[in-house]
Amino acid sequence: MKLERKDLLGLRDVSAEEIEYILDTAKTMKMILTSGNKKTPHLQGKSIVTLFYENSTRTRLSFELASKYMGASSANISSSVSSAAKGESLIDTGRTIDRMGTDVIVIRHPLSGAPSLLAKNVKASVINAGDGMNEHPTQALLDIFTIMEIKGSLKGLKIAIIGDIYHSRVARSNIWGMSKLGADVCVAGPTTLLPPLMENLGVKVYNTVQEALIDADVIMALRIQLERQKKGLFPSIREYSRFFGLDEKRLKLAKKDALIMHPGPVNRGVELTTPVIESEKSFINVQVTNGVAVRMALLYLLTRRS
Ligand code: CP
Repeated sequence: MKLERKDLLGLRDVSAEEIEYILDTAKTMKMILTSGNKKTPHLQGKSIVTLFYENSTRTRLSFELASKYMGASSANISSSVSSAAKGESLIDTGRTIDRMGTDVIVIRHPLSGAPSLLAKNVKASVINAGDGMNEHPTQALLDIFTIMEIKGSLKGLKIAIIGDIYHSRVARSNIWGMSKLGADVCVAGPTTLLPPLMENLGVKVYNTVQEALIDADVIMALRIQLERQKKGLFPSIREYSRFFGLDEKRLKLAKKDALIMHPGPVNRGVELTTPVIESEKSFINVQVTNGVAVRMALLYLLTRRS
């Protein structure tokens, strides 16, 4: 089988079979990653550019390490130190990178749809590393991979996504991906952080965290994205944490073997207490490791399509 697509822009238009194929390849990549010798020639002769118009630690670094482990030439451009700061358009920047013989451009951008616009204007494969409030497909793939590693399958699992759903591209990609693989996804958060018509995506919507947590198999807390909020959408951080923060007592509502996840970075003491973050039920560090394996898989599959 081959991944017959040029770009990965979101999970909305990716089939369950394609997701399973990427994650199956990620299993092999994780074996390589944890084998003691991380170097493979899978991307020898290929070049990967990460083009970030927003801050990142996990996503950018894991793409860069994935490229290096597989023998690609890789480079990074941040908007603040590129010609974008002189007013160059995204399309012109993309075409410039393209003409240097780049095979894959990984882009993070504050505007929804920017990766799609870029993809239409370059020969290179484009991977969306997060666009505005739209999608963050590689985060969802690594989240799904982490759940599958522990639970075997997503079929019939109750997955509760808690917090700032409105601004969350992670939530959107996970809802698309997890639902396609048969999970029962529910969301909970302050009313002002729940987008309208969420039910149309096939998820249950709760206004209290308790309802979402009851018998949950997986709990994913989301970061409160203060940088995307022009005006306060809830009275205070303290109040958010009181009603929607997850502590050990509240988590007793979930199944005994429930997994605690968070895409990071975490606002400690707001979305999750430190004891929860450090508990054996927390898979936040595993998510980070799996991010490298999933991105290795994706880079490999996209560069071998032709
Ligand atoms: N989860 C995530 O996208 O983290 P970064 O912003 O650090 O890449």
